[in-house]
Amino acid sequence: MTLRVIAIDGPAGAGKSTVARAVARAVSLPYLDTGAMYRGVAFAVLRDGVDPADEDRVSGIAETVDVVVEPGGVTVDGHVVTADIRGPEVTSVVSVIATYSRVRATMRAAQRAWILAHGGGVVEGRDIGTVVFPDALLKVFLTASPLVRAARRVAQVGGDVDAIAASIAERDRIDSTRQDSPLRPAEGAVTIDSSGRSVDEVVREISDAYDQVSKSGDVTRG
Ligand code: DC
Repeated sequence: MTLRVIAIDGPAGAGKSTVARAVARAVSLPYLDTGAMYRGVAFAVLRDGVDPADEDRVSGIAETVDVVVEPGGVTVDGHVVTADIRGPEVTSVVSVIATYSRVRATMRAAQRAWILAHGGGVVEGRDIGTVVFPDALLKVFLTASPLVRAARRVAQVGGDVDAIAASIAERDRIDSTRQDSPLRPAEGAVTIDSSGRSVDEVVREISDAYDQVSKSGDVTRG
């Protein structure tokens, strides 16, 4: 049985969120931003004054905190944190807490439960095609040049382009060198470089590829 899942992985600033949201609309599947789940945990760690380097306590928080990610927004223990999780404080610690295996195991279970509950989805993250849904109907590795990625982030959140480029490079380094489910293209993934391409073009390429694969194979909604 193959779930109707499109896995979209890639580094920060590659355009994953914009593209994944639009693909979800185009193919009528729900959209799940798994980075928001990790960000929700990072938010709770900072809220509780816990040292992000304290793997045991951070893992304990991940296992007990109630993070809800839905298209309308993100809540942590019932409080709306949609904007707070995008702030620089959370961004600077989220990659570190995402290296912890107990945190990742908890997130993986929550992501699989979300997809079963919603009957499939377009799921964006770092390890979706490699580890969370290796049987996804379509796996995409979305990337872009470092310069393009930094410029996009500046356009989204403002700030100094050199500082943003350095912060992205550091997150890339942590995300792709961690022991547990490092960021890399999944086997069978279509790699798309979005540098110099419009969102519409990339969305069409992914939607067309999905239409192709969903015509064949044993596909169910859940
Ligand atoms: O996509 P994002 O920038 O919101 O993700 C924030 C961090 O969460 C990212 O730097 C690494 C981590 N992450 C992860 O390890 N695995 C995922 N599937 C999604 C995000």
